[in-house]
Amino acid sequence: MKDVQRLAIVDPSDATREPLRNLLLGVETVWLEAECSRYEFFVDVVKQSTPDIVVVALDTDHTKALQLIQQLTAEMPKLPILAVSSRGDGQSILQALRAGAKEFLTAPVVLEELLTALQRLRASRGGPDGTPSANGQGHSQSLVISVIGSRGGVGSTSIAVNLGCNLAQDANFNVALIDLDLALGDVDVALDLIPDYTLADVAMNVDRLDMAFLRRSLCKHACGLSVLPHPVQMEDISLIHEDHLGRVINLLRASYSHLIFDLSKRYTPTDMTAMRASDVVLLVCQLELTSLRNVVRMLHSFSQEEALAEKIRVVVNRVGSDDCDISLKKAEETIGRSIYWQVPNDYKAVLGSRNAGEPLLTHAPRSKAQQSLQGLANALCGKDQQPAPKKERRSFFSFR
Ligand SMILES: Nc1ncnc2c1ncn2[C@@H]1O[C@H](COP(=O)(O)OP(=O)(O)O)[C@@H](O)[C@H]1O
Ligand SMILES: [Mg+2]
Repeated sequence: MKDVQRLAIVDPSDATREPLRNLLLGVETVWLEAECSRYEFFVDVVKQSTPDIVVVALDTDHTKALQLIQQLTAEMPKLPILAVSSRGDGQSILQALRAGAKEFLTAPVVLEELLTALQRLRASRGGPDGTPSANGQGHSQSLVISVIGSRGGVGSTSIAVNLGCNLAQDANFNVALIDLDLALGDVDVALDLIPDYTLADVAMNVDRLDMAFLRRSLCKHACGLSVLPHPVQMEDISLIHEDHLGRVINLLRASYSHLIFDLSKRYTPTDMTAMRASDVVLLVCQLELTSLRNVVRMLHSFSQEEALAEKIRVVVNRVGSDDCDISLKKAEETIGRSIYWQVPNDYKAVLGSRNAGEPLLTHAPRSKAQQSLQGLANALCGKDQQPAPKKERRSFFSFR
């Protein structure tokens, strides 16, 4: 709990304090230390509860509220103050900032703006060494990974699911897998999950989405991975717009240390939104002509967008299968870049685990595929490699 921000709020009006409180209670990284309904008592409340941040709602009485901010600033100069008012004009903002507030939010407060303000306050306070705490919580620290295939059946879902399950084994991580193969996704089947909610429910409620609702919408697998499946009804796909997804991603970033998107192979606007929001895009292929040709085409298309092109990592799946008619060296020459990771062909383990609806780490923990995908998870979060593999198997674990 070391990265929780402890807040105290003052707002004499029940009508605005309640929604603000509910919003704050939904944020996992916030602990509401104290709530006060009188400006005149608040300094004492703050002295007793010693919060990390205080929130002062101005609207009941601007003059009193600004005096309070001045007093708090004079007595506790290091305490960050967040002012909230429905009057978001330049003059009001300036008055609050001049009185000593560090941040100003316009009421009714929107969750993303609150999170961004809290993030900025966290960053400005910093850790012991003055740097923001890196806890995997919050906007800038989450690792967002998209998995996209270079044709159907190339293994993207198998990789996305098992990557997610492996990452979720780290007790410090909070990992969510979002099935963005909206029409034909099968993450739920791969993990034998029967979800109460899907992405369609989240999209339908996007305007009144809060953190608590969003977290409830994800279903948790026994291995620790949280999953948001694709819509059950095909006709619900049209409910999901890319701007919805952008909002959902921002909120999920605040709650999860790792987000993984299993994308469709149709380059839909939602796929593009997810890739743009990602830190890493795993482009999955196999050592055969159609798949590699598509990698070349996809890389060419992504190269139009520099920020996107830099994120692409090529992952070759099913290395060693009878269908591999192209060598790794030739594949690298063809696509013009090095291969980031190789996953061995492991038909029995992968198909068996898919049919059983279980991740590899429980179904076939010692299998070659599981070892490789565990290595991929470690490599992506900068952890040490597996113990040095035997020489002849090196290629399966190599990280370039
Ligand atoms: N490394 C692997 N070794 C053997 N079979 C695999 C491997 N990866 C995936 N498969 C098999 O390939 C099929 C398609 O995989 P899937 O992950 O659903 O692909 P996609 O999501 O790209 O359509 C599945 O039957 C799966 O069992
Ligand atoms: Mg798939």
